[in-house]
Amino acid sequence: MPDIAIIGGTGVYDPDLLTETAEVPVETPFGGARITLGGYGGKEIAFLPRHGAAHSVPPHLVNYRANLAALKTIGVRSIVATAAVGSLNAAMKPGEFVFVDQFLDFTKGRKDTFFEGGPEGVVHIDLTEPYCPELRVILARAALALGLPAKDGGVYVCTEGPRFETPAEIRMFQRLGGDLVGMTGIPEVVLAREAEICYATVAMVTNFAAGIAAGRLSHQEVVETMRVQGENIRRLLMQAVLWIDGDRQCACRHALSGPVEA
Ligand code: HPA
Repeated sequence: MPDIAIIGGTGVYDPDLLTETAEVPVETPFGGARITLGGYGGKEIAFLPRHGAAHSVPPHLVNYRANLAALKTIGVRSIVATAAVGSLNAAMKPGEFVFVDQFLDFTKGRKDTFFEGGPEGVVHIDLTEPYCPELRVILARAALALGLPAKDGGVYVCTEGPRFETPAEIRMFQRLGGDLVGMTGIPEVVLAREAEICYATVAMVTNFAAGIAAGRLSHQEVVETMRVQGENIRRLLMQAVLWIDGDRQCACRHALSGPVEA
């Protein structure tokens, strides 16, 4: 069973570094997901393109619960997710990686919990550290070792999309402390914690956000930056995968039972 999964966002559709790949359909109570299983460095890895293999599913229609439930079903305990993001922060420039550590949720009515009462009960999950601190350390070490431009820590603002933001919204997000903006981070990170799976995001800055960028925004610009950065993204992911130790005893893995007393 694969211990580690990569969720590929915009521009990351292809598990081409994995050997002996096989696509498997996984059914869950929330719907189905198609996951590619493969090997890298002696480890079994799962790969899931968030928007479908041909980017056919927009951010607000991704079945996040099916994706996360499917990864849980096949035994995944650590997820590294990629995300194309716009930047609100002059210090976070296009072409740079950011390993985000907090989020602001501006999505609207997405299915963002596995626990809807009834037999599953009601759960109020702790998100003091929403992104796995142990995975973030590994990502930061990997970027350093590979000489890739990266910042450790940043506030990710998740919008509903699929439209880009107005400059007024971007100014508001800046005042609220946001650094980056994207459309897919929520509810993925929340569901991962409810599933007790360690989860970290590799955000790749593709553009300055609306009103900060000189001209208009386009999805093509985002995809083009992701294409140019594709090799760096793959190198970073694969270095991190080698360093993720399956036997870590991270607090993310006990999220439902609360803090374990020393
Ligand atoms: N806004 C929202 N999502 C994005 C952006 C942006 O500017 N760039 C890449 N994903």
